[in-house]
Amino acid sequence: MTSDFKKTLRVSDVPLGQMRTVEFENDTVCIINVEGKLYAINNVCTHEGGPLAEGTLSEFEVECPWHGARFDVRTGEVKSPPAESPVSTYEIKIDQDDIWIRKSTK
Ligand code: FES
Repeated sequence: MTSDFKKTLRVSDVPLGQMRTVEFENDTVCIINVEGKLYAINNVCTHEGGPLAEGTLSEFEVECPWHGARFDVRTGEVKSPPAESPVSTYEIKIDQDDIWIRKSTK
C-alpha cells in the first residue's frame, strides 16, 4: 500500500553529514544528509531496536550504536551483522526548503 508524501523537517534542519529523526505514521524515521543529498530510513535497527540516528555515519553507511550493525542509507540493506533484515526506506521530495517523505513502494 502506498501512502502520500507528508511534510517533515526543513532541509536546513539536516546539515551535511548529519542525521535527524522525525515521527511519521507511527514510525520514527531517520533523515540523513550524505554529501548534500538526503536519504530516509526507518530509525529502528532490525537487530534489537537500536536508534540508528544516534549511531555513526560513514559515507553511505550508518552504524547502529548498540551492537554495530551497518545499513546502507540508500537501500536500507544490511552491510554488516548482527542485523539480518534491511530497514525500510522512504522516498524523499524536496519543495523549497521542506522535506516531504513517504514510504518507499520498492
Ligand atoms: S540493535 Fe542494532 S546492532 Fe543490535
